[in-house]
Amino acid sequence: MSKKKNSRFELQKLKDEGKPAVWITAYDYWTAAFAEEAGMDMILVGDSLGMCIYGYSGTVPVTMDQCIYHSEGVRRGAPNTFIIGDMPFLSYQVSVEDAVRNAGRFHKEAGVDAIKLEGGLRVCPQIRAIADGGMLVMGHIGLTPQSSGQLGGFKAQGRTAETAMELIEDAREIQKAGAFALLVEAVPPEVGKIIRDDLSIPVYSIGAGIDVDGQLMICSDVLGIFQAFTPKFVKKYENLGKKTVDAFTAYAADVRERKFPEDSHTYKMVEGEMPKLEKMLKG
Ligand code: KIV
Repeated sequence: MSKKKNSRFELQKLKDEGKPAVWITAYDYWTAAFAEEAGMDMILVGDSLGMCIYGYSGTVPVTMDQCIYHSEGVRRGAPNTFIIGDMPFLSYQVSVEDAVRNAGRFHKEAGVDAIKLEGGLRVCPQIRAIADGGMLVMGHIGLTPQSSGQLGGFKAQGRTAETAMELIEDAREIQKAGAFALLVEAVPPEVGKIIRDDLSIPVYSIGAGIDVDGQLMICSDVLGIFQAFTPKFVKKYENLGKKTVDAFTAYAADVRERKFPEDSHTYKMVEGEMPKLEKMLKG
């Protein structure tokens, strides 16, 4: 069933009406198609693809080309869903020019609707320049995986008054710089709520509690595919990892016991051709 794609205005309206938006990551055509069918308000082609698809231990090695390539597949799978491309490490940190050019690549080559980048005050010049370039930018604060080295690992943020206040100030600056929305990751719910109440733009959560304008989850976590570790904020709705191993194991057993393929999986010779072939073989 085809639906109308959200614009930033529908997303803003959801916030203004107090209705939570729901979004999920996708990295390929099929997942995106299923996400669209399930009625997601947005899809993020996260640089978490580095861990979920490529098996890296973090997001730092992910390149622009990888993000564009996966975003193209997602766009084809979900033509009617608002798609956000995730700016990978070093695609915007070095200069404002890099940031605008790489945000533009996501739009020109993959047809995304918006981009997201990590960081607070220090990336506000980039947010402003991308917005001035006519593109939609989402901010991302709290646990920002690209700077996990500086944060001391994949750890919750804003758990003291002082660090929570820094996040609140970052959020205000991001809104002032022209972001259309903000994602807050891995902070106490009290901090998520303060930021949501403080900002007029939508404030979304991944691990920032329920009192926000919507929730994001990683598709590989929701489906129970990602095995390396499970963050506290994850709820697994399926165990596709186990189901996949079970299916592969059953297939292997069938082959080894000569139970597969069955007659119904084979092609038939054209009527009358087998005797002819046997004659040919006898010479
Ligand atoms: O890359 C990603 O999926 C993200 C989420 C962890 C927020 O940025």
